[in-house]
Amino acid sequence: MSDIKLLASVPIFSELTSLELEELSFRMSKQRYKKNNMILMEDEFGDTFFIISKGIVKITRISEEGREVILAMLGEGDFFGEMSLLDGETRSANAIAFDDAEVLILKRHDFIDLLQKYPKIAISLLAEMASRIRKSDHQIESLSLSDAEHRIGMTLMRLAKDLGTIHHGVVEITKMPYQKDLASMAGTSRETVSRMLKLLEKKGMIKRQAHTLSIQDFTLFKRTFS
Ligand code: CMP
Repeated sequence: MSDIKLLASVPIFSELTSLELEELSFRMSKQRYKKNNMILMEDEFGDTFFIISKGIVKITRISEEGREVILAMLGEGDFFGEMSLLDGETRSANAIAFDDAEVLILKRHDFIDLLQKYPKIAISLLAEMASRIRKSDHQIESLSLSDAEHRIGMTLMRLAKDLGTIHHGVVEITKMPYQKDLASMAGTSRETVSRMLKLLEKKGMIKRQAHTLSIQDFTLFKRTFS
């Protein structure tokens, strides 16, 4: 996909004309990261805004005990790095290439300029940030649950919304994270994840094949786990 086509498919840029997208693409640089490479680090000062053009990026924090907590998995067309540019604080989390990834990078000055020039982009950015707070609220709620099935169910729902594609009510998540990553999202152990996935499979709610997980009836799944 060309950079212009990719930018046009980014929800926050959906209002820009092709000329404006072209101007924007001139201001962006491109960078590739190998699987597991760090893109940005928690607590560093940041000067850049990122849009994912290929691959998946995981957003993490490290707990006091040194455990990785996954806050989000972001896919193609998603952005990150906006928070420290907006509030002037250090990076709030780590961003790590979950598989080989490519990002488009905008400098702080150009990012702020863009928001000032196109208030519609600022409003779309706020809408996406509101949606991320909602997802985080769900994650906090799920972490407080003692019922492991519910925790894993809510984590799968989050992944379905972030990375899944829906077809006739069935959501498919290709490139499923490993069970240890699911455990880092759900605040539980890998063994519990394995047990709960088997249980959900037995109940006919999910199917697994290689790296793909499908949720058979997403409406029912949402009703059960939200
Ligand atoms: P920034 O703080 O500049 O650097 C880390 C980035 O991770 C942050 O900007 C956001 O873009 C992203 N981020 C932090 N917390 C979350 C979250 N809960 N969900 C999605 N993205 C997040």
